[in-house]
Amino acid sequence: MKQYLKQDDWCIIEEGFHQQHNQISESIFSIGNGRMGQRANFEEQYSGETLQGSYIAGVYYPDKTRVGWWKNGYPEYFAKVLNAPNWIGIDITIDGEVFDLAKCEVDDFVRTLNMKEGYLERSFEAKLVSGKIIKVKARRFCSMDNDEIGAIRYSITPLNFKGTLTLTPYVDGDIVNQDSNYDEKFWVGLDGLVDNDEAYLLTETRKTAFKVCTGMQFRVLRNGEVVESTAQQIKQEKYVACSVDIEGADGEEIIIEKYAGILTSQNHPEGTLMERCREKVQAACQQGFAALLAAHTAFWASKWAESDIVIEGDVAAQQGIRFNIFHLNQTYTGEDERLNIGPKGFTGEKYGGSTYWDTEAYCLPFFLATAEERVARNLLIYRYKHLQKAIENAEKLGFKDGAALYPMVTMNGEECHNEWEITFEEIHRNGAIAYAIYDYIRYTGDQDYLIKYGLEVLLGIARFWAQRFHFSERRGLYVMHGVTGPNEYENNVNNNWYTNTIAVWCLQYALEAIEHVRGKAPEQLEALAERVKFYELTETKEWKKIIDNTYFPYDEELGIFLQQDGYMDKEQRLASELGDEYPIWQNWSWDRILRSCFIKQADVLQGIYFFEERHDEATIRRNFEFYEKRTVHESSLSPCVHVVLAARLKMLEKAYTLYLRTARLDLDDYNNDTEDGLHITSMAGTWMAVVKGFGGMRVTEDGLQFDPLIPKEWAAFAFKIRYRGSILQIRINQQQVSIHNESDQAVELKVYDQAQHIAGGAQIIVENQRSTV
Ligand code: BGC
Repeated sequence: MKQYLKQDDWCIIEEGFHQQHNQISESIFSIGNGRMGQRANFEEQYSGETLQGSYIAGVYYPDKTRVGWWKNGYPEYFAKVLNAPNWIGIDITIDGEVFDLAKCEVDDFVRTLNMKEGYLERSFEAKLVSGKIIKVKARRFCSMDNDEIGAIRYSITPLNFKGTLTLTPYVDGDIVNQDSNYDEKFWVGLDGLVDNDEAYLLTETRKTAFKVCTGMQFRVLRNGEVVESTAQQIKQEKYVACSVDIEGADGEEIIIEKYAGILTSQNHPEGTLMERCREKVQAACQQGFAALLAAHTAFWASKWAESDIVIEGDVAAQQGIRFNIFHLNQTYTGEDERLNIGPKGFTGEKYGGSTYWDTEAYCLPFFLATAEERVARNLLIYRYKHLQKAIENAEKLGFKDGAALYPMVTMNGEECHNEWEITFEEIHRNGAIAYAIYDYIRYTGDQDYLIKYGLEVLLGIARFWAQRFHFSERRGLYVMHGVTGPNEYENNVNNNWYTNTIAVWCLQYALEAIEHVRGKAPEQLEALAERVKFYELTETKEWKKIIDNTYFPYDEELGIFLQQDGYMDKEQRLASELGDEYPIWQNWSWDRILRSCFIKQADVLQGIYFFEERHDEATIRRNFEFYEKRTVHESSLSPCVHVVLAARLKMLEKAYTLYLRTARLDLDDYNNDTEDGLHITSMAGTWMAVVKGFGGMRVTEDGLQFDPLIPKEWAAFAFKIRYRGSILQIRINQQQVSIHNESDQAVELKVYDQAQHIAGGAQIIVENQRSTV
């Protein structure tokens, strides 16, 4: 744990330059806008520890797979979101001396991430080796309002000298990825243009041939007045820059404003990229920093109005939850159905920036409740568009007849993961994709989604499961062998309860979906069946046999679902006994981990969380108490599911302890890995922990309900949700639960199991039945 950041309701603040933690800060203070994003690298040169990272959503490189021993079925490549051309750079020299913070004495350093308005700021005084002192204040943002534009305002004030400042704003495409299998450079320079105060660089990714134009225009101001200057123009193969000499004197503030445009061939015809980039950059420069920032801030105001969570009486918790919401909103805006949410978002290279089951299992509920319906729908459409690839993926592994296996990791629908125990075995991910369709429809009521898109995906997934189970003559039941459950600390197990559960559920749901589409749009069902060669009678007969005759491991003595065959034969220890051995992934050999009973993340409990309505409270409690004690939560996705279940069981202290672990995971560098980037997808889990956990929100077949409870550490908490056209503000304090219907549409719901009707604009107040004070 590292706690060097100041607590504040709306900002993340680093006071004093913590050079030893610079890479952690670079992750934490990252900014983005759904289309692009970057780590909080410095504009000026920095020779200290740094991980340079600017990323553009969907622009990736297929890095050829590198494994010790090739196994048939491995994907050819691992897709990597690329470190993209650097547009933030401004080299600064003072009378020829390079300004490099790592070589300066630094005073009054403050780095701030203003989450309310969405910008990054730094201010400090730096004494250079020559003794010259400058005061610097730099602010930048990636515009949410205009997502191909970024802007920087960088101010330098000489404090004890008169001299020449040479300012060189540049665009650099000669960059590398830290994560590269063969140490290749992934970008090729195609063209450059430098003209007076503008510079443009056209680059292309190797193999994938994404073309990106990164351009900039700048202007310099002295004491608020624009300085006319002639720039020296620099153009190299993958680098363009302008350089100007400005005379500076004590106390005179010199400001350089840099306006950048990042346009890609995903969104513009290739031949027009540079021209369009130029138009956009010039328009941004004309508009000016203040106006661009105002539009960006207004955008953030509307995001916060929809998705903020207020926690009163606990600044650490308040800062933690806003930090999570901020990053989620700047990682995915739902504007483009080709994009998705990488586990690290725009904050690092780890996990390749690709899509995992995290999106469906963890992120979807956040976007469902806090954004317009189309945002969550676009996440589903993304997978719909990858269906053919999922079918091809299954074919590569020997499945047939339209069976679809969605990849564990993907950028364009193709599998990228290449560890056999995950690629071939962690197939439960297929279930999460079906579950997301169910979750979306249950939440929004948009049943028609099944007709146009949903059913086709469900058929592919159901066909896969039907082929993946096999019939055990011995047991007289269907079984599933050789899988890895969500708990990746066990591989190649037989009958993982979670996988069997979600697989059978997928078959049931596919049957229901067929009936629904038959009822609503029989001719579309017929057309689909013909197109995908769906032989309904024979195929569904087999599905029904599996549904009625699958083996689910269960321990009679303990009355719990068994994680997999043989789990109870393992040496039984508790996570509380681990002490210094924790985290085991760092301290134990892999062999020891695999043989131990320790669980990386919710597995049986993930299934109980998804299908909670099927289980009575006593069953949930028995399973929770057994498995949570053996869970080491070494995936950031783990604590949130446990918070939701602990809150359901009114185990408030447990829920609160686990909540703290998720909410400030990155801010406090809990897992010692924040420097690699932030845990973006688990941030949605933190939201879930508050809303589904403490807020007790559920949407079931019976509609919307709340069963809130509040940790004693909080005076009150409040969140907002959209639900089928209404907008509800829910506030819970130690005495009361109030729900304000901010829309003009009435809503029916339940609070503590009591039916409530809330007219448009009305508010209800109910006594808090679970007060702890
Ligand atoms: C977890 C997976 C998750 C992946 C990406 C792994 O550590 O075990 O469940 O999909 O990280 O977040």
